[in-house]
Amino acid sequence: MIPAAAFGRFKQTPMVMATGYDFPMARILEKAGVDVILVGDSLANVVLGLSSTREVGMDVMAVFVGAAARGAKDTHILADMPFGSDSDPAKAVANGLRFLALGAHSVKLEGAKLDVIRALTSEGVPVFGHLGLLPQTAKSFKQVGRDPAEREEVLRSAEAVVKAGAIGMVLEHMDSDLAAQVTRAVPIPTVGIGAGRQVDGQVLVLHDFLGLNPGPFPPFAKAFADLHGAALAGATEYCRAVRERRFPER
Ligand code: KIV
Repeated sequence: MIPAAAFGRFKQTPMVMATGYDFPMARILEKAGVDVILVGDSLANVVLGLSSTREVGMDVMAVFVGAAARGAKDTHILADMPFGSDSDPAKAVANGLRFLALGAHSVKLEGAKLDVIRALTSEGVPVFGHLGLLPQTAKSFKQVGRDPAEREEVLRSAEAVVKAGAIGMVLEHMDSDLAAQVTRAVPIPTVGIGAGRQVDGQVLVLHDFLGLNPGPFPPFAKAFADLHGAALAGATEYCRAVRERRFPER
């Protein structure tokens, strides 16, 4: 398990981060050698079929953080702070400590909530930042960093998040030149999703990169397997085998 204190290494060697939500998939991700498993609030969309990440709270996230931690005991588990769970420092600290007690090693929160990051860090909860597109509060899903004011704001936020004590940051759906600029400007690893190649690592959503959902996919995702096809074939064959009395065999 790579502790938060050792994340500096990812300025040299790319960090592989993947979302993972349950016991069997966390086990697979650990076996595959993923550096960090993010129990993302994207589970609202890809696991629970909800339309917004705002629809999951601490109790739901806690179930999945515990499951992923049990499945990948030797991997760094990063727990996503769901919408509202980090709305003030005291609340964020209580929720962050709850995640650590369930087996997480750090938490991620969206936006430059500097007082919250400082409070979590000082209570021993390592924090990953998240800049660029922020799904919990985004009004549009357009790429971030196309106009100069927005670029300036992202750069300022990145530096502030570092100063507040973050150990790394996700850059989501961000202009790749801006992501490269942020990566050069900060001493902590940047992990991109739809932010180009000049970052310190990549993260993808499990259901996208394993082809678990039939789509549509975000434009920056890539399916490295077709688990939807494999699962559909298996389930169809099970149905046939029972109906044709080929299963059980005796
Ligand atoms: O919830 C999530 O899966 C995330 C990733 C998109 C980085 O925050």
